[in-house]
Amino acid sequence: MSCLNSVMLTTNSFLSLITLMSVAQKPTLLINSDQIEEGQSRGFIIDNTNLFIVRHQGQVVAYHNSCPHRKQPLEWLPNQFLDDDKQFIQCASHGALFTIEQGLCISGPCHRKSLTRLSVEERDDKIYCIIPLG
Ligand code: FES
Repeated sequence: MSCLNSVMLTTNSFLSLITLMSVAQKPTLLINSDQIEEGQSRGFIIDNTNLFIVRHQGQVVAYHNSCPHRKQPLEWLPNQFLDDDKQFIQCASHGALFTIEQGLCISGPCHRKSLTRLSVEERDDKIYCIIPLG
C-alpha cells in the first residue's frame, strides 16, 4: 500500500469516526415542553443512559440519574426526584439534597460532590438532550 493510500485510509477512518460521533451525540427528543411543568421532574432511560430532567425557575436542567457516592438512582417513585418543597433534588435512599441549578450535594453522604450534568435544550416547544456516547 502506498503512503498516499495509507493517508487516505486514515483520513477516511477519521471522517467516519467524526460522523459516527456527531450522529451519536445529536440532540435526542425527550418530551414536549408542556409535559413538564414548573417544579416537576421526569426520568428517562435512553440508550442505556439513565437521566432525569427538572423544570426549575422556568429552565430545564438534566442530570445523570446516578448519585456521586454510590452510583445508584435517586428517585423514590417514578419521575419523583425532588424534595417536598420542590427546591432540591433528593436521594430517596439517604435523603441527600442536591441543588437543582448545579447538582451540588449540600447535605448527605456525598456532601460537596455533584451530579453529572447533561446538555439540554428547549426549542420549538420540545425538550432535547445530548446523550453521551456509551
Ligand atoms: S446514593 Fe448517594 S446519597 Fe443516596
